[in-house]
Amino acid sequence: MTRILFFCLGNICRSPMAEFIMKELVAARGLQDRFLIASAGTSDEEEGNPLYPPARRQLDLHGVPHTPHAARQMQPDDLRSFDLLVGMETQNLTNARRLLGDSPKYLRLLDETDNPHDVADPWYTGDFDTAYRDIREGCEALLARLCSR
Ligand code: 4NP
Repeated sequence: MTRILFFCLGNICRSPMAEFIMKELVAARGLQDRFLIASAGTSDEEEGNPLYPPARRQLDLHGVPHTPHAARQMQPDDLRSFDLLVGMETQNLTNARRLLGDSPKYLRLLDETDNPHDVADPWYTGDFDTAYRDIREGCEALLARLCSR
C-alpha cells in the first residue's frame, strides 16, 4: 500500500484536483487496493471549505469523479501517516517543511515529468485549464513511476 498526500496552499484548487485525478487513474487500472490518496493545504485559510467551483468544473468537464471535499491543513502526523507528500509548487514544499519538518518523502508533482516546473496557482492566474493539464500529466508520470518499481 502506497499512501500519497497531495498538497497545495489552500486545499481547494490544485491538491484536491490531484487527489481526484489520481484516484481516477488508479481506479482505471484496478489498483485501488494498492493506494491510499488524500490531499491537504499548508494554510488553514480555507479549512472546511469545498472544492473551489472552477476546479470542480474542470473535473466535471473531464469526467473525473469527485466526492464532497472539506479543506484541511497539513498536520505533523501526516509525515508518519503518508509515504509520499506531493506538493504542487516549490513554495508549498518550503511551507510544508516549516510546518512538519524535513523528510525525504517530499516531492514536487511535475518533477516526475520531462518538464519539471511548478503547477502555477490558478487562484492567482485564473488559468484552471493549464492547472488541470499540468496536474494530470504529473499524476500520470508519478503513477507510472510507482508502478514500475
Ligand atoms: P490552492 O489555491 O492552493 O490550489 O487550493 C488557493 C486557494 C486559496 C488561496 C490561495 C490559493 N487563498 O489565498 O485563499
